[in-house]
This record gives sequence, structure tokens and C-alpha cells, in this order.
Amino acid sequence: MAPLSLLVVLFLSACGLARDVPDNVRELYDKIRKQGQCKDELATGFWSTDDGSNTFSYCGDRLQEYNIVYIQGTGGNLTNMDIDCDGAQGGPSDDGRCGSSTDTQSITSFQSTVKSYDRNISDLNANIHPYVVFGNEGTKRGWKTFDPESVGIEPLSIMAVVCGDKLIYGVWGDTNGDDGDHPLVGEASISLATACYGSEVSGNVGYDNNDVLFIAFPGRDAVPGAQGANWSATSYDDFEKSIEGQGDKLIARIDDDDSGAMSNGLSTSVFSSGTAAILQAPADGVVGAAEGFAASLVAQGGAAVIPTTTAEAELASYLGDDEAHVI
Ligand SMILES: *[C@@H]1O[C@H](CO)[C@@H](O)[C@H](O)[C@H]1NC(C)=O
Ligand SMILES: *[C@@H]1O[C@H](CO)[C@@H](O)[C@H](O)[C@H]1NC(C)=O
Ligand SMILES: *[C@@H]1O[C@H](CO)[C@@H](O)[C@H](O)[C@H]1NC(C)=O
Repeated sequence: MAPLSLLVVLFLSACGLARDVPDNVRELYDKIRKQGQCKDELATGFWSTDDGSNTFSYCGDRLQEYNIVYIQGTGGNLTNMDIDCDGAQGGPSDDGRCGSSTDTQSITSFQSTVKSYDRNISDLNANIHPYVVFGNEGTKRGWKTFDPESVGIEPLSIMAVVCGDKLIYGVWGDTNGDDGDHPLVGEASISLATACYGSEVSGNVGYDNNDVLFIAFPGRDAVPGAQGANWSATSYDDFEKSIEGQGDKLIARIDDDDSGAMSNGLSTSVFSSGTAAILQAPADGVVGAAEGFAASLVAQGGAAVIPTTTAEAELASYLGDDEAHVI
């Protein structure tokens, strides 16, 4: 049997590749799909595939709540994942799968910033850096565009991608141009796509289902900068490990306090931390005290449990109607 320390190391290194989708992100993913389509479109009219429809949007529904932006279609669709091989070519991580790409460009959108990091790389390398192609540019007549910087998303900031049953962190490393027939969305570097779907993907074979969630995080705190990531890594694993910690902090923006929310709209998390406090809460006659108290518990978080006691059920019923209550 391997010594414990070795097992721990093996476990940690396996985690570096990809991870299960955490509950809060899974919850968000399910809610977005269930909602069907975006209500607050930052920009719309994009295509996931050239033979599909122009029904895909950059969605701002959770910009206020979580400070995130994502891509969404209609009818419960998210977007697909096409494969990008742009940027620095070759290197030890290049296994030849980019060779089939017919639209590879020699530079990525933020090449000059990458260079300015002075980390001994000339540009992002799709075989190493898990980057997302996000935002649309173009000057063709009627071409739909979206500049992520218009909502505070910074170049080379960390993004989170839910693909299959995995969560992968990447960086915003390239933008969609107007070289094709339609303004497309849903594309990532081959290293990111491989972490999602394995080596079936290649320069011209992507992932076709519209069930991939691309999440961007506005703000400086999403930018690793020159020293915050291993830009000179020679493998996807080494780069990915270097951005995981910051990625984990960013997804914490996605609050799962209402995971397991009940039909009355009250989070079950209230009950786990709150029962004793509810019973002790001052019955001082403040109208709306029950609601206010529950809201503060929701803000504090807590594990989800189902209400079992009378006090819990009572509070739940108070919050299920439109009246103010006193506890
Ligand atoms: C979106 O999903 C529905 C099923 O919910 C499907 O019938 C439809 O073709 C999809 N639309 C696009 C543009 O992918
Ligand atoms: C810079 O990268 C090149 C390969 O592109 C490598 O041969 C060289 O050793 C690197 N220099 C440093 C200082 O890491
Ligand atoms: C960065 O990546 C390189 C090559 O992949 C690796 O040798 C080095 O240890 C990594 N640096 C850090 C600080 O993890």
C-alpha cells in the first residue's frame, strides 16, 4: 500500500486537471437552464453554430446579484464549445490535434499584454493555456458585437467553464472576429476543451451540444496579472493549478444560500443555523421581524436542511405569504 502522503499527493494532482462542479455552481447552472433564456441581455443576436439560429446572448441576469456574466441561448440552451488553436504554436504540449484547424490565427487578442508580463512567452499557447474566446468584434455591416470590457470584464481575467460534469478555470484570452458567416459564441482553447471532453476534440472537431456554461467575472480581482499565474508553464496542468486558488475565490461570488429553496421562496439554509435563534428571537413587536431575521440568516449562509420543528415550519409559512409578521 502506498504511504498516506503519496496518496495525498496523487489526489491533489488529480484535482489539478478538472474538478467536480461545486454545489453552488451546479445550482446556478440548473437554474439558468431551467429559466430557459436570458431576461437582461447585454447583447444578443449571436450564433452557437453557423447552421443554427441567432438566439444566443451575453446575459446580465446575475450581474447585480453575483457580479457574473454568461452566455445563454433560448429554450434551455447554453452554448456549444468550438476549438481555438490561435496564438503561439507548437511546444511540448502540442500533440498535433490543432493541425486539422483551418482557421488558426497567429496571435490572440491580448498578445501584447501577455508579452508585457515578461514571463518568457510571446503569446498564449492554446495547447497549454485554457483560454476562452469571449466577446465579439467586427465591422461587417449589421454584425453583432459585444465588448466584455463594457461591463468591467478585464482582459486575461479568470473565467469558469462548466462542461460535462466538470468545472474548469480558464482566462479570457481571445475574442470572436468577423471572419465567418455569423457572429459566433462558444469557443475555447484546445487545452480547455481537452480538459472537458478528452482528446476526442481537435482543431476541427469541437463539442456540439449547447450545454456549456461560460462564466466571466467583472472586476480587477479576477485578473491574475503577471505574477498571479504560471504563464510560462509548459503544460495545461501546471497552468491550471496556478489559477485554481483565485478561481475558487471568484466562484464563491455565486451564493448557494438558496440551494434547496422551498416553494415558498425561503431558503432551507435558514433553518440549520437559525432554529435556536428563531426560538429566542425577541418578540418585541417589530413588524416584519420574521422576514428580516430570516433574510439575515440567509445572508450568513449555512447547510441546507429541511424544516422539522414547529418553529421552523411556522417561520416558513410566514415567509410564504405576502404579509409582515412578528416573532
Ligand atoms: C434549444 O433547445 C431546444 C430544446 O429545448 C431545441 O429544440 C432547439 O433546437 C435548441 N435551439 C438551438 C438554437 O440550439
Ligand atoms: C524561455 O523559453 C524558451 C523556450 O521558448 C526556453 O528555451 C528558455 O530556456 C526560457 N528561458 C527562461 C529564462 O526560462
Ligand atoms: C510553472 O510551470 C513550470 C513548467 O510547466 C514548472 O516547472 C514550474 O514549477 C511552475 N512554477 C510554479 C511556481 O508552479
